[in-house]
Amino acid sequence: MCSIIGYRGKGAAAPVIVSGLKRMEYRGYDSVGVATESGKKINLKKGIGRVAEVNSSAGLDALPGTTGIGHTRWATHGKVTRANAHPHSSNSGSIAIVHNGIIENFEELKSSLSAQGYTFESETDTEVIANLLQKNHDATGSVKEAVVKTVSEIEGHYAFVAMFEDGQLAAARFHEPLILGIGQDDLFLSSDVLGFIEYTDDAVYMKDGSFAMLEDGKFQIFDFDGTDTSYEVTKVSKEFGDAYKGDYAHFTLKEIYEQPETVMRAGEKTTDAIKTAALLIRNTKSIYVTGSGTSYNAALLAKQILSRYAKIKVEPIISSELPFSPDIIEDDSVFVAMSQSGESADVLEAVRIAKQAGCKIISIVNLTSSSLARESDIVIGMNCGPEIGVAATKSFTAQLAVLYKLAEQLGGQTGTDFGGISESMLEMLENPTTIQQIAGKLRNVSDIYVLGRGIHYPIAIEAALKLKELTYIHAEGIAGGELKHGPLALMDSGVYVIIINPDDTTYSDTLTSAREIKTRGAKIIGISNVKSDVYDYWIEIPSTGEESYPILEIVPVQLLSYYAALEKDTDPDYPRNLAKSVTVK
Ligand code: G6P
Repeated sequence: MCSIIGYRGKGAAAPVIVSGLKRMEYRGYDSVGVATESGKKINLKKGIGRVAEVNSSAGLDALPGTTGIGHTRWATHGKVTRANAHPHSSNSGSIAIVHNGIIENFEELKSSLSAQGYTFESETDTEVIANLLQKNHDATGSVKEAVVKTVSEIEGHYAFVAMFEDGQLAAARFHEPLILGIGQDDLFLSSDVLGFIEYTDDAVYMKDGSFAMLEDGKFQIFDFDGTDTSYEVTKVSKEFGDAYKGDYAHFTLKEIYEQPETVMRAGEKTTDAIKTAALLIRNTKSIYVTGSGTSYNAALLAKQILSRYAKIKVEPIISSELPFSPDIIEDDSVFVAMSQSGESADVLEAVRIAKQAGCKIISIVNLTSSSLARESDIVIGMNCGPEIGVAATKSFTAQLAVLYKLAEQLGGQTGTDFGGISESMLEMLENPTTIQQIAGKLRNVSDIYVLGRGIHYPIAIEAALKLKELTYIHAEGIAGGELKHGPLALMDSGVYVIIINPDDTTYSDTLTSAREIKTRGAKIIGISNVKSDVYDYWIEIPSTGEESYPILEIVPVQLLSYYAALEKDTDPDYPRNLAKSVTVK
């Protein structure tokens, strides 16, 4: 997803915009651009690459003026080219715009505008909004009326900030995030509070179907029909400003190392939200748990944890699949949505479907001010602080901690001791040498399989996802017993297999699988508290109660993926083609 930002204030706009874009780069990072207004003229620079690179070659932060807009892109409409990078200008050059989302009727609008003489330099849907705004502004002479008319003509999901040559900013939101920041002398518009948290913690989370107009230290917010609308100024948690790498080389590494603390924080309290959620779940026949990516893998674990400890049956659903099988949902059930960002479009869509079926929505979410939180009846916070690395790490273990807490509140005796888990994690993280050595062996490997049974199978799937995201090596999670039903055919001396095998009820069957694989020549990496001669490499995890193993055993694979990414010279924080918060379908 893209990040958009707008600034109007007393200081120079461009440096504020560039630093905000750097902090939001996790949302998309294939190209970047900034436009400012000075002397009723629009200045615009953009290019392909990361913010720091383009800034140093093009001097984005040197653009003059106290009003500006900026963008980092995650390509949807059109390839990664300079022409497709934002901001886009209208034909007259009197309007520049940055946009996040997808305009579904852009082809229709583009041909109609072309027939009226408008020309297009890019393949994007954004340029269509720029020219529509210009057309409607030329016709009405009013920025407000131009926006009202334009939003009535475009269809899809979007947030945009448009800058007019007189320095007015207009910003509209429809199913994509947009937040207004209110500083002492400055106003900010941004996809994420990280865009302005350095300057202010007063924010307005704009409603869907509303737009803001910013002028000289004041702003107004309107509904899409142009009527004044009420808004609430909220204090953004300062904790979310803490998005710096500190002494760590990468955010991903920092976030992996934060887990001894974040897992404690997520699991330490039985909040009122957990209590209310448990009551609701207890009194409902059908319970669904949904998510995308890593959060879906946490949903798979929800099934295991809640059935094992609380005897509650839940059905995991991949969020993006629900629109194609809505009949899965029984009316008036409980629908639990898991999401770090609370902005994943697929998750929000799944929630809409569940709401239509009369379900109550419980969200387990890190950003408690997100769209998902606002759509939910009950919001359980994960409380793990900002996660910037695109591959989810600490949010996953926080999700698991919350699930154990929920199982306990549902009457389950999980025996989980978060203090102990935290100490065990510290112990594992203290000495990564073995993991670094194994990572060195993975440089030229093209296939890695991760095998686990029972509760360790979803961990194997999540482990494979980490490897794919960070190293670009093909990786696949295998349920132990399924080995002989297909995957065994793939085992040979070129393959590495990670065996998730703590000493619990799955231990001996999984060790047998490891032997079967070893016979075929593959290299075995065992993750276990017990050493075995079958492992070519052994990653030791501390011996704890079996309830702690799922949270612990993912950590070495996160670390292995991180170090293997370094070996392969890929950027662990920003994997190619991916984005942290996928706010389009
Ligand atoms: C993207 C990210 C993944 C994440 C998924 C769901 O695909 O790259 O790391 O797991 O979105 O994100 P959410 O914020 O909903 O948990």
